[in-house]
Amino acid sequence: MNQYDYIIVGSGIAGLYTALLAKEQGSVLIITKGSIDDCNTKYAQGGIAAAIGKNDSLELHFKDTIAAGDGLCDEGAVHILVDEAPDRITDLVNFGVPFDTLDGEIALTREAAHSVPRILHAGGDATGEHIEVTLSNQVRSSKIQVLEDCLTTEIWVEKGKARGVKAFDCHTGSMEEFECRFLILATGGAGQLFKFNTNSDVATGDGIALAFRAGVEIVDMEFFQFHPTALRLPGVTPFLISEAVRGEGGILRNIEGHRFMPDYAPEGELAPRDVVARSILYEMEKTGSDRVFIDITHLSPYVTTTRFPHIYRFCLDHGLDITKGLVPVAPAAHYTMGGIKTNSWGETNIAGLFAAGETACTGVHGANRLASNSMLEVLVFSKRIMERTRKEIKPKAPTTSESVKAHHSLSQRQVTKVVPAPSLSALQQLHWDKVGIIRDKQSLTEAADTLSAWQESLPQPTDRPSYELNNLVLTGRLVTEAALLRKESRGAHFRSDFPKSLPQWQRHITFTRSK
Ligand code: SIN
Repeated sequence: MNQYDYIIVGSGIAGLYTALLAKEQGSVLIITKGSIDDCNTKYAQGGIAAAIGKNDSLELHFKDTIAAGDGLCDEGAVHILVDEAPDRITDLVNFGVPFDTLDGEIALTREAAHSVPRILHAGGDATGEHIEVTLSNQVRSSKIQVLEDCLTTEIWVEKGKARGVKAFDCHTGSMEEFECRFLILATGGAGQLFKFNTNSDVATGDGIALAFRAGVEIVDMEFFQFHPTALRLPGVTPFLISEAVRGEGGILRNIEGHRFMPDYAPEGELAPRDVVARSILYEMEKTGSDRVFIDITHLSPYVTTTRFPHIYRFCLDHGLDITKGLVPVAPAAHYTMGGIKTNSWGETNIAGLFAAGETACTGVHGANRLASNSMLEVLVFSKRIMERTRKEIKPKAPTTSESVKAHHSLSQRQVTKVVPAPSLSALQQLHWDKVGIIRDKQSLTEAADTLSAWQESLPQPTDRPSYELNNLVLTGRLVTEAALLRKESRGAHFRSDFPKSLPQWQRHITFTRSK
C-alpha cells in the first residue's frame, strides 16, 4: 500500500496550489487522469477578482458577490473570500505569477456585475494559462509526487473516515490503492455535460460523482452557469470570448446590427451573466439565428491585440480579424456552481475528506457566480484546508447558514423503457436541449427519465471514457433532479414555468446517496 499525508485528486489550479501548500506539511501525491497540464484552469481568460484597487473596498466586493448570488450565498463564506483575497494574491505573486501591470501597479479590468474594475489578469487574456504554468513548474521541481494518466475510481471510507482511494491506471488497466491522512478532491466541474461548453474535455464531474457514491453531501447542482459569449463558428469548438471584452467596451449586436442589451437591462452588456445569456437566447430566437455578435471594431487595434492576444490570435486562425469585423458568439455552459458541500475549511461531511475549487460548493457563489471569483475561491479555501489539517484535528461536519434545508436522495425513476447506453454526444445533446439555460417541468422530466434509464443500462466501466461517461450520467442526474425540484427561477436556474424567484425557495437542495 502506498501511503501519503495528502492525496490530491486533480491538477488544475486547485490541485496544484493545494499541493504546493501541502508539501510544507507532509508527503503529497497528486493523482490526475491526464497529464499534469490537462485542466480547465488554463482556459480561464478573465482573471481573478480582488478588492485591491483605489476605488474599491472589501465591503463593495462582498456586496457585489452577494448581489450576484441572488439570495443563496453563504455570507460568512463570502466575507472570508473577499477579506482573504489580497493576501492570497500576494501569495500568487510570490509563486511567480506575472500579473499584468499599468504604470507600475497591477492592472485591473472590469467584468459584469462588478461595481468597479477589480479583475487581475496575466498575459492579457491568458490568466489561467500563466497560473497553471507557474504552479505546475513549481510542482515539477518539488518533491511532490505526481501520478499522471491515473483515474480515481473510488474513495475508500472506513469507520466514517476517508482513508484513501482506488485508482485506475489508464495505460495498463490495472487498479491500485493509495492511503492517506487527508484526501482532497480538486477535480474541477462538469461542463462536458453540455453540447456547447467552454470547458476542457477533462471536466466530467468526476469528483462530484466519486463523492456522492462515497456518501458525501452534494448541493446546489441546479445552478449551472452559462457564459453568454463563446465563439460560434461552424465546426469550431466553442472558444471563450471573455467577459472582459465587454468590460473593455465590447457591444453586443443581433444579426440585424441592433445593439439589444439596453432593451433588456440598464447595465447593458455588463448585466449579470445569466441575464445576458438569456437575452442573447431571446434575440437569437427573435431573429431566427444561432448567434449574435460582439463588436469591438471601435477599439484601437493596439488595445485589442495587446489586451486580448489569445482571442485575437484564435479568431485570426479561423479567418476572423476581430479588429475589423464582428465576432459571432452564443452562450455555452461554463461553470458548475454546485458541487461537494464543504464548510469554510473545505471539509465535507466525511472526516478527512476535503474538496477545493469548482468541484466544491463552499457557498460563495450562491445561485450565480460573480465573474472571476472562482480562481479566488480556490486560493482562499485551499489555504484554509491547509490551516485545518496543519495539526491533527477532529473534523466536524459542515455547517450551513440557510434557514431551511431540503435533503434528497437520488432514487431510480419509475421508467419502464429499456434504452441502450448513451454516447457522450447524446448525453451532451440531451442536457443542452432539456436542462439548458431555459428549462421547464416537461423538458426536465424527459431528461430525468432518460438519465435514469441510461444509468441502468451503463456497462461496468473499463477505460477512461467509460468511467467519465458514468460520472457524467450521475452528475447530470443530480443537476436535472435538483432543477426539477426547484420550482422557481433564481440566478442561473431559469424555469419558464416558474419565471419568478419565490421566498420559500431561498434554501438549498442537498443530495445524499440513499443507504
Ligand atoms: C471570462 O473571462 O469571461 C470568464 C471569467 C470567469 O468565468 O470568471
